[in-house]
Amino acid sequence: MSVEIQLGLPGPLPFSEIFGNENPLEIELGFGKALFLIRSALSRPDTNFLGVEVSRQWFREGKRRVEKADSPPNLQVLHAEAVDFLTRFVGEGSIAVLHVYYPDPWPKAKHHKRRFVSGPLLDQAERVLKPGGELRIATDHEGYSQWMAEHINAHPKLEAIDWPIQDEPLTHFEAKYRIQGRDVFRFRLRLGAS
Ligand SMILES: C[S@@+](CC[C@H](N)C(=O)[O-])C[C@H]1O[C@@H](n2cnc3c(N)ncnc32)[C@H](O)[C@@H]1O
Repeated sequence: MSVEIQLGLPGPLPFSEIFGNENPLEIELGFGKALFLIRSALSRPDTNFLGVEVSRQWFREGKRRVEKADSPPNLQVLHAEAVDFLTRFVGEGSIAVLHVYYPDPWPKAKHHKRRFVSGPLLDQAERVLKPGGELRIATDHEGYSQWMAEHINAHPKLEAIDWPIQDEPLTHFEAKYRIQGRDVFRFRLRLGAS
C-alpha cells in the first residue's frame, strides 16, 4: 500500500518510510501527463519514482492517470514548484536520477527569468544527487539548450556523458516530437567529485 506524501514543515522527507524500502529514488520535475513516470514505475519496480508538477491542472491530470494505472506502489506525485521542493524537502546526496523533459522554453528574452533549468536548479542538482547520480534533460528549443549549456558550464561537478538514444519510456512531448521529426537537444550529466 502506498502512502500519499504530505508537505508540512521544511526538512528532508523520509523517502524510505514513504515507499517502504531503500530502493533508489528518481524524480521527474514537471511531469505533465505523467506518462514517463507511469511507464518507468511499471517497468522498473525496484526503483522508486516521484513526480513534481507546479501546475494544479497538470498535477490533477497526471494523478488521474497514475490512479488509472492502479497507482503503482513505487510511484508518488506531488503538486509543488520543482526548485523550491528540492531546496526544502530533499536531503543531500539522496537522489539517483533527476529527469527534466521539455521544460517550457519561454522564448522571449523578457521571460527568460522564468526558465527553470538555470543556476538554482543546477545548484540543487549538485546538492541532492548521490555521487555518480545523474541529471537528464531534453528540450526541443535550441535557444533554451544554449542557455542550459551556459549554466551547466558554470557547474563543473556536473559532467556531460554520452546518452545514446534508447527505448526508454517516452514522455508525452517526446512522443509528439518524434512523430514530428523535430530536433531534440539532450544533456546527460553525472555528478562527479570536482
Ligand atoms: C512542456 S510540459 C512537459 C511535460 C512532460 N515533461 C513531457 O515531456 O511530456 C512542461 C511541464 O513542466 C511544468 N513546470 C513548469 N515549470 C515548473 C516548475 N518550476 N516546477 C515544476 N513543474 C514545472 C509545467 O506545468 C508542465 O507540465
